Amino acid sequence: MELEQIYVPVQDDLNRVGDALKSISHVDFAWLAEQLSYVVKETGKGIRPALTLLPGKSYEYDLTYLLPMAVSVELMHTATLVHDDAIDKALTRRGQATINSIWGDEIAILMGDYLFAKAGESVADTRTPRVIKLFSQTLATISSGEIGQFRGAFNLEQSRENYYRRIYSKTASLFSLATQSGAILSRSPEEVVTVMKEYGDNLGIAFQIVDDILDFTSTEEAMGKPVGSDLTQGTLTLPAMLLMERYPDDNPVVRLFETGDKSNIARAIEMVLDSTIIGDCYKIASEYCSQACQNLNLIPDTPSRESLYALADYVIKQGT
Ligand code: IPE
Ligand code: IPE
Ligand code: MG
Ligand code: MG
Repeated sequence: MELEQIYVPVQDDLNRVGDALKSISHVDFAWLAEQLSYVVKETGKGIRPALTLLPGKSYEYDLTYLLPMAVSVELMHTATLVHDDAIDKALTRRGQATINSIWGDEIAILMGDYLFAKAGESVADTRTPRVIKLFSQTLATISSGEIGQFRGAFNLEQSRENYYRRIYSKTASLFSLATQSGAILSRSPEEVVTVMKEYGDNLGIAFQIVDDILDFTSTEEAMGKPVGSDLTQGTLTLPAMLLMERYPDDNPVVRLFETGDKSNIARAIEMVLDSTIIGDCYKIASEYCSQACQNLNLIPDTPSRESLYALADYVIKQGT
C-alpha cells in the first residue's frame, strides 16, 4: 500500500499539521522568515505525525492535544535532520540543497535550535506533563545516539548490540515518542500505551535498518538525499557489519576504516550488492516489523489500525 492510502484515516489532519508547519515561517524577521520557509517547503514523508494521529483514532481523538503533538514530533524530526546534515556535510535533503550547504554550518546549528524550540513550544500546547517529559527525554536520547555515532566513526570495534542501541537512540526513540504520545493524548488504556510504545520502538529500528540498506542500494534521485554516505562518514551499519563478518580477511570496510582510503567504498558497495547481505538485512528488518505488529490485535479494529499494519509493511517494502 502507498503512504497516501495508509494515511487516509488521518489525511485531513495531516494537512492541518502541514499548515501549522508552514505557519512557523510567519515571523517579522525577514531573513529568518526566508530560511524557515525554505526548511518547510519540502515536507518529507510525514511518517512521524501520522504515527501520532493514527493511534489516537482508536480512542478519544481530540485534535486540541493531538495536533500540537503531531506538529511537535515533525518539528523535532526536521531539526535533527538540519543538524545531522551539518554534521555529515550533506549537500541535499528532500530533493533540495541543505541549509548547511547554502548558509553554512553555523546557520544550520542555529536553525536546528530554532526548530527544536518551536517543537518544545508546540508540545507544551498539549498541556500534558507526561508527554512533555517524554519529549525532552527523547531529545536527550537522540542526541546521545548522534554523539555515539560521531564518537564511534571509523571504529571497527562495534558489536551488533551497539548498532541496535545506536539506531534505537537516533531514530526509534522518536517513532516511539510519536506513537506513545498519540496513545496517551487520546486517553488510551495503559496497556495500549505499552502496545504503541513497542510498535514505535520496533518499527523505528526496522525503518533505520532499511534506511541503512537504501544507503547501499538506492540513488540520490530516488531518496532526495546522498547515498553511500554512511561509509564515507565512517558509520558502521548493518550491511557493512555483515560484510565484515562474512569476509574477515582483506575486507574493504576494514581497509577504509584503517587507512581512510576512499577507493574502498565502491568495492565495499559492490561486494555487498553481489552477496545475500541485502536480503538478509531486509529479513532482519522484517522481523522487527512483525515484532512491532505483534500486539496490535489488542487495540480496536478500525481503519487506522489497518494503517498501522500497512505502515509496517510499507517500511520493509521501501526500495524492494
Ligand atoms: C530520515 O527520515 C532520517 C532517518 C531516520 C533515516 P525520513 O525518511 O522519515 O525523512 P523525511 O521526513 O521523509 O524526509
Ligand atoms: C538518521 O540517520 C539521522 C537522525 C536521526 C537525525 P541517517 O544519518 O541515516 O539519516 P539520513 O540518511 O541522513 O536521512
Ligand atoms: Mg545523515
Ligand atoms: Mg541514512
